[in-house]
Amino acid sequence: MIKTQLLNSKQIAHAARLLKRGELVAFPTETVYGLGASLFQELAIGSIFTVKGRPSDNPLIVHVSSKAQVAEIAQEIPDLFYVLAEQFFPGPLTVVLKKRSCVPSVVSGGMNSIAVRMPSHPIALELIESVGEPLVAPSANLSGKPSATQPKHVLEDFEGKIAAVVDGGKTKLGIESTVISLLGEEPVLLRPGSITKEEIEAVVGRSVALLPRDHSGPVLSPGLKYRHYAPKAQVRVFDTLPDLKVYVDHMQASNERRMLLTPSQIGEVSSAIEQGFLSAQEFYSLLRDADEKKIDEILILCDDALKKDAAFMNRLIRASCSE
Ligand code: TXA
Ligand code: MG
Repeated sequence: MIKTQLLNSKQIAHAARLLKRGELVAFPTETVYGLGASLFQELAIGSIFTVKGRPSDNPLIVHVSSKAQVAEIAQEIPDLFYVLAEQFFPGPLTVVLKKRSCVPSVVSGGMNSIAVRMPSHPIALELIESVGEPLVAPSANLSGKPSATQPKHVLEDFEGKIAAVVDGGKTKLGIESTVISLLGEEPVLLRPGSITKEEIEAVVGRSVALLPRDHSGPVLSPGLKYRHYAPKAQVRVFDTLPDLKVYVDHMQASNERRMLLTPSQIGEVSSAIEQGFLSAQEFYSLLRDADEKKIDEILILCDDALKKDAAFMNRLIRASCSE
């Protein structure tokens, strides 16, 4: 057990020292908190997999503070990267490129590619600059659990296991970055995120393929193999209010604890069910709250706006699937 320090934005130099000597430090980004290690601290990077319980074939995103750093860790960078970076860096876009051999293979799960992103959060950028090296960082949650959007979530999962968390309050977007691969002839969207497919297509001037769901070729994005973002509670999604009401009525007699999350006011559905306001930004936090309240089942009713949010729906589906 180590004592996990909660640092503020004035203590970034201290956080950088910890990272430089091979400790793990969680930090805020505009999407979710990341669990950081310095790019060349291989032992520290190995321990990210251990503390998260993350399969070693699921590679990590490398966070940079400049485009020059990208050229140091990636090679044969296509022009399209610079087009995307011009528009979306810094911001919630992760780009998969061909890796240089100087990048430890533990980062990329043995693959010859590397995922890079330049976060826009000032604390993240200042921290990367103070360390002077890129930071590898997966989302700061135990593998499979909802991501952390507040420092207290990071502490729930890693208190006593990591050196520090830099407190940046609640993260702004609450859903992870969009991941796009530029390894092939055509760009492929590997993970929907805050930057939409349409926004990317508008910038690159052509259509962007989505990763086919049931592709049988090599694994393009190992992270997609696993159940994810899931609370202990069962998440049950309803398409319409009548469907939800039928279910609630039917389950009235069971004594399971339920919580209902909806993006708009729908009036009370049952006096026995606590209701809460659902948004993409608060989604992970709501799932964690439900676990804290020992809720057995989370009922979710989406509206049309949420149903159109590809990034949110991707997380919702994976949080609600059972394996
Ligand atoms: O917003 C975010 O992206 C956050 C913050 C902390 O930056 N990070 C994050 O990291 O969500 P993580 O580890 O939870 O998700 C990274 C995703 C995984 O699906 C992983 O498989 C994929 O990126 N990935 C990483 N390196 C890759 C690579 N070389 N090729 C394909 N996919 C890769
Ligand atoms: Mg994650």
